[in-house]
Amino acid sequence: MNKKGYIGEFADTYKKDLNLPDEVKIFDTTLRDGEQTPGVSFTPDQKIRIARQLDELQVDVIEAGFPIVSKGEKNSVKKIVDEDLDTEICALSRSSDEDLETALDCNVDSIHLFIATSDLHLEKKLDLTREEALEKAVTSVEKAKENGVIVEFSAEDATRTELGYLKEIYEAVENAGADRINIPDTVGVATPKAMRNLTEEIKKVVDIPISVHCHDDFGLAVSNSVAAVETGAEQIHAAINGLGERAGNASLEEVVMTLRSLYDIKPRVKTEALVKTSSLLERITGIQVPPNKAIVGDNAFAHEAGIHVDGVLKSPGTYEALSPELVGHHRRITLGKHTGKKSVKKQLDELEIETTKEQLEEITARLKDIGDKGKIITDADLRAIAESVVGTLPREEKAVKLKEATVTTGSTVTPTSSIRLSVKGEDRIGSATGVGPVDAAIKALRDVMGEISELSLKEYHLDAITGGSDALADVTVKLEDKDNNLYIAKGVRDDVVLASVEAMVNGINRYFARKEEES
Ligand code: KIV
Ligand code: ZN
Repeated sequence: MNKKGYIGEFADTYKKDLNLPDEVKIFDTTLRDGEQTPGVSFTPDQKIRIARQLDELQVDVIEAGFPIVSKGEKNSVKKIVDEDLDTEICALSRSSDEDLETALDCNVDSIHLFIATSDLHLEKKLDLTREEALEKAVTSVEKAKENGVIVEFSAEDATRTELGYLKEIYEAVENAGADRINIPDTVGVATPKAMRNLTEEIKKVVDIPISVHCHDDFGLAVSNSVAAVETGAEQIHAAINGLGERAGNASLEEVVMTLRSLYDIKPRVKTEALVKTSSLLERITGIQVPPNKAIVGDNAFAHEAGIHVDGVLKSPGTYEALSPELVGHHRRITLGKHTGKKSVKKQLDELEIETTKEQLEEITARLKDIGDKGKIITDADLRAIAESVVGTLPREEKAVKLKEATVTTGSTVTPTSSIRLSVKGEDRIGSATGVGPVDAAIKALRDVMGEISELSLKEYHLDAITGGSDALADVTVKLEDKDNNLYIAKGVRDDVVLASVEAMVNGINRYFARKEEES
């Protein structure tokens, strides 16, 4: 293993040709661009709660809001400032007097000033000439600096702005006193190479730190952000869970871990708090993090395939690029059709369920069967399947084996079931009708099993193991013979009729086993 843990040497090979900065700052825009996510609106209390969490996460800048948009927004920004957090608190403002005064009124540490610079925006949206926009940008930067705040300037729609003019405006705001400039890829149209080139070009004309703000319209926000770092960008705008306007912003957790693990640049961010922060935003926004989301998704450190589980149990680095603890996550072994016996055994050990080799094989086969039907298997399902298998005799010793059970039912037909069993090696087929599908199947079973006439069904109990209409059915039956001996047995299947027949067959096998012992 190399010094960076599980990461291979390839990153080092390519790093030689890059102009990587020593440090990259994380400008968090969850509370501003993140709140522009369709359907998301934070209450002032929620904004404060999120700001505290971002402070705990140790991002470098918290963009708390856009004060001009409403009284409530302005108050929220002020309240966040009153929290007196360690992190730099920033407010967004267009390059206009009214916006700037409102933002300055919040006593923030920094102002993020912006004006659109692409011809498309200037003509269609702002009705300004390039010269007019440049003058507004410069005037607003000067005014903000007169008020003693840190100033970051964004040329909105920079990636669709003519390069000569873009350079001119960034140079002008630097001369006006801006502390950092930001390159927004407002509609996410850049590619990594374009972002690398653009950053390189802008770096030729400005000396202040360069930041990037990438949107995810083509799913490239994180790649574009780190590409900019390859040619010297010193700050990235990002939002927790990739929240933001339309398809969102670069996901903060992905940016941070990519920089840290693949580029060996360690942002200040306390990575162990990433999952906690992501979950907080998930709860507050109601927008679920997809399970397969990198770093923070439920499946980010879950392993199902037998080969993978075997590898991870021997040495986590075989199938984990980073350790789950580093981001506040945990490793999970999941069960499904790809599951191997070793994973099942491991899970059973955790549940303290002992099995024979045959029972383990039977449990694994049943899990694969359920997985084949596209269902998710939970710990509770595993426990129930295991108990049903471990509670029965090994396959070879079973007197009765269920071969097939079918039922026809509906609002206009009488429930009818046919059943095929092997009883001590002899094939038997029977059928019956009943008041419902389960009743019909149990009657069909009794129909072909003359030798159980003395057994009465004392109790029948059905549980759904997990919620949802595809939950496993867990059936327990209590059978009683004429001497009042009880035979309690379970059946667990994804079909209630099969689970019921299985429970009955397991009970009957116990009854046969007892009779055998007595004879
Ligand atoms: O996407 C964008 O251009 C923005 C600006 C306000 C920087 O969010
Ligand atoms: Zn944006």
